[in-house]
Amino acid sequence: MEYMKALVKTAPDHAEIQKIPIPECGSGEVLVRVRSAALCGTDLHILAWNSWAQNSGIKFPFILGHECSGDIVATGDESGNSLKVGDKVAVETHVPCGRCDQCLNGEQHICNNLRIFGVHMNGCFAEYSVVPALCARKIPDAVTYDIGSMMEPIGTSFRAVQEAQVAGLSVLVVGCGPIGLFAVASASTLGAERIIAADVSSQRLEIAGEMGADIIIDPLREDILQNILNQTNGYGVDVIIEASGNSSALKQSFQLLRKGGTIAMVGLPEQPVELEIGRDIVFKEAKIMGIHGRRMFGTWSKVERLLKAGKLYVEPAITHRFSLDGWQEGVQLAKSGHGCKIIFQP
Ligand SMILES: NC(=O)c1ccc[n+]([C@@H]2O[C@H](COP(=O)([O-])OP(=O)(O)OC[C@H]3O[C@@H](n4cnc5c(N)ncnc54)[C@H](O)[C@@H]3O)[C@@H](O)[C@H]2O)c1
Ligand SMILES: [Zn+2]
Ligand SMILES: [Zn+2]
Repeated sequence: MEYMKALVKTAPDHAEIQKIPIPECGSGEVLVRVRSAALCGTDLHILAWNSWAQNSGIKFPFILGHECSGDIVATGDESGNSLKVGDKVAVETHVPCGRCDQCLNGEQHICNNLRIFGVHMNGCFAEYSVVPALCARKIPDAVTYDIGSMMEPIGTSFRAVQEAQVAGLSVLVVGCGPIGLFAVASASTLGAERIIAADVSSQRLEIAGEMGADIIIDPLREDILQNILNQTNGYGVDVIIEASGNSSALKQSFQLLRKGGTIAMVGLPEQPVELEIGRDIVFKEAKIMGIHGRRMFGTWSKVERLLKAGKLYVEPAITHRFSLDGWQEGVQLAKSGHGCKIIFQP
């Protein structure tokens, strides 16, 4: 039997690197030799075992990690979508049932029985990973493994910006973690007139500038409302991408939005948020859209083509790379808020 290294969460308060047998893939699955795997906030929630993680239906032991790319080394009998050994792939993490009303009507990404790769099944912080064939997406040679491992979060941000139809409009991205930074890059690609990025971390604001933000604002250091009103003749911005998940930032966003503007909500506040419905939404005619992941696979096709064409600039979001053995250092860095996207190369 051949063995591999994997980061296994064994109990609510424990995770460790283990040597375990390389898994076999069954029908409808492929086995991927993982080349790059990106650390995400969700992994931190699972490691910390916060209230979301406790209620997410996780069963122990399981292999952490969901954002990845690699090469197919084996396919199940009926992998079903023409994948073959040697294909370079990136992984979609929403695993749909294929049978519910949502799935049958083109909305697999919000399947009624949605399961998440690396949450409800073993993930990719390992040398090898079993992936549902439907979710293994072939990527071009021009897309590096590291960029491939981030296509899942890039897709979420790209979709938010695309559906908000930003061409020729002013866009405010609230929160410049990976999700916000990829939204900045997407808004630049999709022709926003002006991109304003807000965060409380100067390091992340600096990266936002590199990725296409025209104006950066630290709301702790200056009055963001006054700044936005000054820049927009007192009207407010046309589009907001909320990517902070911070309750007070989210509440304030509605004041920064112009009448008739659009707000795409991507961030996930941990507690319920109170809004003034009349002032913030009704009289303003705010258009609100929730964004959960990527359209399968319309978003993937567009992101892939833009990356291949060199028209979506995401590289600066990667600040650190570690081997799997360095996972604790990577997690500490992520928790400290230093750095941004952290990549493991198993
Ligand atoms: N909807 C989806 O499909 C989806 C997918 C991935 C992540 N998310 C959520 O999106 C959010 C962003 O994800 P991420 O991985 O970039 O997280 P992150 O924690 O790395 O980034 C959040 C950023 O917001 C900044 N921030 C905090 N308070 C702020 C304030 N008052 N004003 C401006 N910025 C502020 C932080 O400094 C940080 O840089 C999280 O809430 C995450 O749970 C949603
Ligand atoms: Zn993620
Ligand atoms: Zn379904």
